This record gives sequence, structure tokens and C-alpha cells, in this order.
Amino acid sequence: MNVIKSVKEMQAFSEASRSQGQKIAFVPTMGYLHHGHARLMQEGRKLGDVLIVSIFVNPTQFGAGEDFEKYPRDWDRDAQLCASAGVDVIFAPTAEEIYPHGYQTSITVSQVTQNLCGVSRPTHFQGVAMVVAKLFNCTKPHVALFGEKDFQQLVVIQRMVKDLNMDIQIIGVPTVREQDGLAMSSRNTYLSADERMSALSLSRGLSRARELFQQGERSALVLIATVRQIIEKEKCAAVEYVQVCDIETLQDIDVISQPAVMALAVKIGKARLIDNIVLKE
Ligand code: PAJ
Repeated sequence: MNVIKSVKEMQAFSEASRSQGQKIAFVPTMGYLHHGHARLMQEGRKLGDVLIVSIFVNPTQFGAGEDFEKYPRDWDRDAQLCASAGVDVIFAPTAEEIYPHGYQTSITVSQVTQNLCGVSRPTHFQGVAMVVAKLFNCTKPHVALFGEKDFQQLVVIQRMVKDLNMDIQIIGVPTVREQDGLAMSSRNTYLSADERMSALSLSRGLSRARELFQQGERSALVLIATVRQIIEKEKCAAVEYVQVCDIETLQDIDVISQPAVMALAVKIGKARLIDNIVLKE
């Protein structure tokens, strides 16, 4: 497994792979890897001759007062996980290389970024779109994999790729959960034992909503109220949002007559956790 830190070297590697007719699969990450990331790598391994994983904690997607400085990092463990997932290259650039002095270009995906996490994190998806576009230009993938765990992010990237005519296939991978239902996340490490118990209310609430949906409930209001009730029983949980949205536009819907995503964000102690399920016939 190679570790590449320079943009030029990464581009040269990818160019050489492409000229040999190899298909490049790419998984962007911010490190502190877990089984959710590993699942993306497994899928990428199947789809590409060359598998590149980036590890870069992207400063521009964190707002003021968010956890950029404290975001967990563990290079040795990450490198081990990548090696055992069959990764060919870890691309780990420095912030100076990704954001050269005087950079002034930005990418705005104007609509699907507004709702859900966009309300409390108004600059987040601009940072995500920007860094993913840059990472695509460095690694030149044919296919890139993203988790459904970050559903809005997946929709933003799909929109950007379409709008900018990027010749990259975007694959969404279902959320990987702990055995007790908690969606895996690098931020779960912020949870104390008690908070982790409370955090189970997120997946419990979503499972209950899915059950009701399967029994025929189509009112978003009823499903949202059910989920809120389950989560708000936990003393340390502060709900930021629970919403039901159209799966493509991410606009709120009242009656679920088309495929929908039920998404939520909840603050548990210091950790801001997100989760979602897709509701469709
Ligand atoms: P990060 O949070 O490290 O996640 C990297 C990728 O792993 C994302 O596509 C995310 O959706 C996916 N992922 C995380 N937890 C998952 C889980 N439990 N199951 C399935 N997939 C999961 O998302 C980012 O980094 C950044 O925003 C990035 C795209 C790298 C841009 O900086």
C-alpha cells in the first residue's frame, strides 16, 4: 500500500493507472476509520482495479465553534484498516496543498444544501462540495463511493457531479450499524457510556417510524411526532431536527406518496449525531 501526500504525485499515479486501462475506485474520508468506511472500501475494491482512499480532515466544512480541532485522528489504526481492506493508495494531503495560498474559487450547490443540516450548518456543504471536487481532480476516479449515513451529502455530490458534467459514477452505500442499531460514526467516540445508551434512541425512533410506515402510516407529521417522542425521553438528547423529505429535492413533504427520507440530527452531550432511513413502497 502506497501513501501519497503530494497532489502532483497523486495525479501522476492516477494518470498512469488510467493510461494502463485500470479503473479507479475512490473513497473520500476524514479518517478515524470504522466498519462503515470499511464497507465503502469493500464495495470500491469490487468496482475498481485500483482503490484509493483519501484521509483529510477538511477545515472548510467545519463552521466556527464546531469540532475541527478536536476531530479524532489515529493515523496508525487508519493505515492498518486500509491495508486490510486491500487499499492500494492512501492519499493524505496537507491543508496547504489542498487550499493553496490565495485560493478564491468555490462551488455552490444551491438548493439541496438548504434544508436539514444546511439550516444549522450554512457553510458546511459548500466546504464538502469544494473538497470533494478537489479530491476528484487529484485522484481522477471512474467511480466514487459515499455512505447513505450522510444522506444529504450523497445527494449534494450527485447533484454537483451531474451539474458539472463530471465523468464519475457515484455509488451510495447503505448505513453500517453497530449490533444494537447505532449508526457507526467517527463522532461516536465523543459519547460517554450513558450518552451512548441515549444515542440508541435515534435508531430506535427510526425503526419505529419504519414499522408504522410499513403498517400504512403515510403522514409525515405522525411519524415525526413518534420519533421525537422516543428521542426526547432521553434527558441528554437535544433534537435539532426530525424531518421527512423528498429523496431527490430534500424538500419537506407532508404525505409520503413518493420515495422519502426521514432524517434527523440530535445533539447528545458534545456529539452531534445524524441518522436517516429511506421510506418507500
Ligand atoms: P467521513 O465522515 O469520514 O465519512 C467518509 C464516508 O464514509 C462518507 O461517504 C460517509 O457517508 C461514509 N460513512 C460514514 N459512516 C458510515 C456508516 N455508518 N455507514 C456507511 N457509510 C458511512 O463524510 C465525510 O467524511 C466528509 O464529508 C468527506 C466526504 C470525506 C469530505 O470531506
